[in-house]
Amino acid sequence: MVGDQTTSIMLPSAEEADEVTFEGGKPLVGEVEVRGAKNLVTKAMVAALLGDSPSVLRGVPAIRDVAVVKGLLEAHAVTVTELADGELELDPRGAKSAHFAEIDAHAGSSRIPILFCGPLLHQLGEAFIPDLGGCRIGDRPINFHLDALRAFGAEIDKSYEGIRLRAPRRLVGARVDLPYPSVGATEQVLLTAVRAQGVTELTNAAIEPEIMDLIQILQKMGAIILVEPNRTIVIEGVDSLAGYRHKAIPDRSEAASWAAAALATRGDIYVRGAHQADLMTFLNVYRKVGGLFDVDDEGIRFSHPGGEIKPVVIETDVHPGFMTDWQQPMVVALTQATGRSIVHETVYENRFGFTDALTKMGADIEVYKEGIASITRRVPRRPLEQAAVITGPTPLHGADVRVPDLRGGFSHVIAAVTASGPSTVSNLGIISRGYEHLLAKLSGLGATFEQKA
Ligand code: EPU
Repeated sequence: MVGDQTTSIMLPSAEEADEVTFEGGKPLVGEVEVRGAKNLVTKAMVAALLGDSPSVLRGVPAIRDVAVVKGLLEAHAVTVTELADGELELDPRGAKSAHFAEIDAHAGSSRIPILFCGPLLHQLGEAFIPDLGGCRIGDRPINFHLDALRAFGAEIDKSYEGIRLRAPRRLVGARVDLPYPSVGATEQVLLTAVRAQGVTELTNAAIEPEIMDLIQILQKMGAIILVEPNRTIVIEGVDSLAGYRHKAIPDRSEAASWAAAALATRGDIYVRGAHQADLMTFLNVYRKVGGLFDVDDEGIRFSHPGGEIKPVVIETDVHPGFMTDWQQPMVVALTQATGRSIVHETVYENRFGFTDALTKMGADIEVYKEGIASITRRVPRRPLEQAAVITGPTPLHGADVRVPDLRGGFSHVIAAVTASGPSTVSNLGIISRGYEHLLAKLSGLGATFEQKA
């Protein structure tokens, strides 16, 4: 079971092609499968550190962020074994502190290391976080995380290498009120509170489906977590936790990405694994635009209606709002809608950089860096927000573009597949952080492209 198979969650070499030339203009038609959500799987892998016996996680996709967390766990002497395709066993017995340089070497491209803090403080009494990577979509500070860890009793020292944390004694339950329902900070509190002494009350928590799935995992491990109304989560700390067996929730960001690809290319894609309950807000927008979808027990079929599609106003928000990770592929589809669409990005302060490439390909997109005030807004205005106004339909033509970040990168690929003529997309490797077998899936849907050797 160990040996050769352990390498298969590392990316197949075909996915590592960093430069691909697409010959666009053809609809994407066929079927793709989405497996476990990047934004749950990576956290579930970290949660295994809290157990005193091995955990088994199923539905694990072959993406680079999984490989990063696998490397980080192994650096802490956690044994990660691939039992079958997409099934990992994580054995935390024997976990030990890792060398700074080793953590740094693995952490480079991900923000996940911050979530190791609570589990490592419980297991080993210390943790180290190097400079954090992740997508370049704004400042992405970690102040909520550090404030919460301090409330649990962690001691934090910043140095030129990164941040060192220590727990001189067992961490204790705390009251944490998040200034914003941050996904990562909510996970930080959960992963720390479950084994702290006493009760933790978290208010203004994030309630994304991936967080609910993480709570289910922690409950399987022996945690006591009460999800109360109004974004309040109460955690009664326990002395020890066991391993879990769990199948990860499907990736709703990837599902929405393929849905948008079907719309942009006038195609028809069955997304096996797409789960309606986690996509309801997206599906409402899809329907308003004129996109067709058909839900069955195994997935959702998404297709272009033929004729024209309609413009829409979108405000990104925390769950159950329209996810910030859904807007980039939808913007490509909206370049093909008849009329003016507006996307208000309220979660991150810099998430429209990807539109430059679309403009180069012929899209009419104007970005308002200070956002656009509107009395019809549903979401309270945040100081960091921006807006994009997309006027369509504009035929897209091929261009050479460079992938800036994960979701923006996927939108470039869809745009290249939608455009007439060749487009060379470089820095494509970033997309493999969160989309498995991208090129194989595109090829299966009929996309025509050539990889640079
Ligand atoms: N924020 C702070 N301080 C903090 C933490 C967050 O000010 O200490 C701010 C951020 O700057 C941002 C907002 O809070 O303006 C929301 O950030 P959040 O903490 O919710 O995001 P995250 O946990 O860093 C996760 C996903 C993102 C996804 C967001 C929102 C992972 C690994 N990442 O990020 O996914 O966009 O939640 O749903 O789970 C992606 O998949 O491409 C991606 C970026």
